[in-house]
Amino acid sequence: MRRRAVQGAASRRRCGVPTAQATNTRAPGESESAKAGLVETDSENSAKLERLAHELGEVVESVHAQERVAAEVLWAQVFASTIASSGWLHDRSFAVGRWAVGFPFLYVLYRVLDEIRPSRILELGLGQSTRMVAQYAEAHPGTTHVVVENDAEWRDFFLRSFRMGDATRLVMLDCEIVAYRGSEVRVYAEFASAVAGERFDLLCIDGPLGGDMREYARVDILDIVSESLAPAFVIMFDDVERAPESRTMAETLKLLREAGIEHRSCRYSGIKDVGLICSADLRFLCSM
Ligand SMILES: C[S@@+](CC[C@H](N)C(=O)[O-])C[C@H]1O[C@@H](n2cnc3c(N)ncnc32)[C@H](O)[C@@H]1O
Repeated sequence: MRRRAVQGAASRRRCGVPTAQATNTRAPGESESAKAGLVETDSENSAKLERLAHELGEVVESVHAQERVAAEVLWAQVFASTIASSGWLHDRSFAVGRWAVGFPFLYVLYRVLDEIRPSRILELGLGQSTRMVAQYAEAHPGTTHVVVENDAEWRDFFLRSFRMGDATRLVMLDCEIVAYRGSEVRVYAEFASAVAGERFDLLCIDGPLGGDMREYARVDILDIVSESLAPAFVIMFDDVERAPESRTMAETLKLLREAGIEHRSCRYSGIKDVGLICSADLRFLCSM
């Protein structure tokens, strides 16, 4: 939209110059100063156009940000009515946003848990989403819930206000920076061996910290995706409005294609974007 407005204005300006030249009937000498005047007007106009284009860009950005806030508020409503008669989600206090997942994530996560009933769940990053998954695991015997976290202080702080049941196992792994495709990325050290031998039907990817990464973020899943998924599976990525997380989701899709694993993918957007990949049999998860 921004580019079209600028191009339109610029082509109007270019069209005006030949017309002025074709009708030039000024006396000698007058034409040089007229030309200088035209050049001056031209550069003033360009500067004005640049300013307008910049201002228009800011307006478009602010409209998009407001649209995201409006969508988040709607998701909050949808989430509230979806869990209204939940038989297993008893503690409904979620402090969403900022470092934590938002309402679209909580909504999709709830529907996945309530309707797909996964039994082997891997969550990267301890926090608000853990409050929901841990309650689900506790209420559904036979469910295994593994949470990977790196920050012991955050763990202690979190556990002051939330009691995790026996169905949830917290795995503490340090973080390290490694090279990945020519850039540096933060990963959980020894991640693949910590979860080896398991087949998960739900993966929630919201850790380690990714906001300061440049090219890729949260690539840990790429080491395990081909061999650690159950036949029916769901993978949820938070923060895929950010390019590094989005690239990791794209790499995950590529690995699934290469492994011949049939799947579907989609996004749910509020203030942040949630990416979802599921096995083809669960495709309706992309139209909730
Ligand atoms: C993006 S957070 C998300 C964790 C979880 N999925 C949630 O919904 O809250 C990822 C990591 O940030 C850290 N973290 C989470 N909440 C935090 C907070 N309020 N302040 C500082 N660090 C936090 C933890 O180390 C966590 O593993």
